[in-house]
Amino acid sequence: MGKSKVIAAWAAIVALVLVLSGCGGNAASSASSSEASDAQPSQASSAPVSAEQSEGVDYLALVNKLNPLPEGWEDALQTEHFTNTVGDDVEVESKAYAAYLDLKADLEKEGVYVDLDSARRSVADQERIMAEFTEEHGADYAKKTVAAPGYSEHHTGLALDLYLIIDGEDVVENEDMMQYPEVWEKIHARLADHGFILRYLDGDEHITGYGYEPWHIRYIDDPAIAKEITGRGITFEEYKAGKVYPEVSYDYGDSKLYTREELEEAAIQVKCSFAAWDGCELHSLRYAGDGCNTPENVKWLNEIDEGAGYAQVVELLGDFHSPTTEDEPTAWNLDTEYTDYQWWLGRTEDGGWQLVTSGY
Ligand code: DAL
Ligand code: ZN
Repeated sequence: MGKSKVIAAWAAIVALVLVLSGCGGNAASSASSSEASDAQPSQASSAPVSAEQSEGVDYLALVNKLNPLPEGWEDALQTEHFTNTVGDDVEVESKAYAAYLDLKADLEKEGVYVDLDSARRSVADQERIMAEFTEEHGADYAKKTVAAPGYSEHHTGLALDLYLIIDGEDVVENEDMMQYPEVWEKIHARLADHGFILRYLDGDEHITGYGYEPWHIRYIDDPAIAKEITGRGITFEEYKAGKVYPEVSYDYGDSKLYTREELEEAAIQVKCSFAAWDGCELHSLRYAGDGCNTPENVKWLNEIDEGAGYAQVVELLGDFHSPTTEDEPTAWNLDTEYTDYQWWLGRTEDGGWQLVTSGY
């Protein structure tokens, strides 16, 4: 795959359309040509559902990698504080807190005990958490697990991280909590009755941008909507966009350079960026092979993203279908299957994958 074939003029037009349409802003990223690609899941712009307002809080607000906390959110927000069993102060939006207490009481009738590790977080809190996770687990894991400051649902006060109390012991670490799938099943079964949904579903990181988080629940207020979302097994992004995203098939091949997890991280960056390609459907993604990581390609990505300091390269190839109708201006040929489209990502010695460019 020669680099000279990459970035057809129309791909540049697509990038321009994405930038002009506001896709790709990321509060945490520096200004670079990869910025537009560094973002993310579906937008809410064409949401067919009307936002439900109560006391000024939009309980159906979508905050994700593409959509930051709405401006002026704090103006309408009313919160409660309490101290959890490990002694931390936790702040929750008032109505969500009342619903949480009902949920908790219901669960206790079934012998399931929970508390809240974290609910409302400031941008400064999120910056600290991101720095800690990056230091402890590396940039790839941090990106998959922690939202960029300004883009976390926790800023709303409507996202709640539960922890478990098993035999009287607090179980708060993510890896430890993952050991209790049967307890989570009982909890998840009760959420919708109280107006909550599970936000980051197993296997849907290509839509939400984050790995499975059984503990992260989101208050949306209306149990009927929560039941619909839960019953259909869809993400909040899909509900808001009014469409169900198709399955994507993967082939990560047999790399001697990268682990499967590292290639999955690269794929997440591609899929989150792709989610902003209005009307396009991604069908497959595959690793182009270790031959992509040549000094020439490293140099090329560093030329595109001047000063990025990339040390390694991944090329992913994919097939996708272009929009069938021209509802929005599109640079693609309508209703066409594009095959072997290229996505190029770079990473520094200690950074996560950044999508740098894509095209033929
Ligand atoms: N863990 C979720 C994605 C957050 O940081 O908001
Ligand atoms: Zn959370």
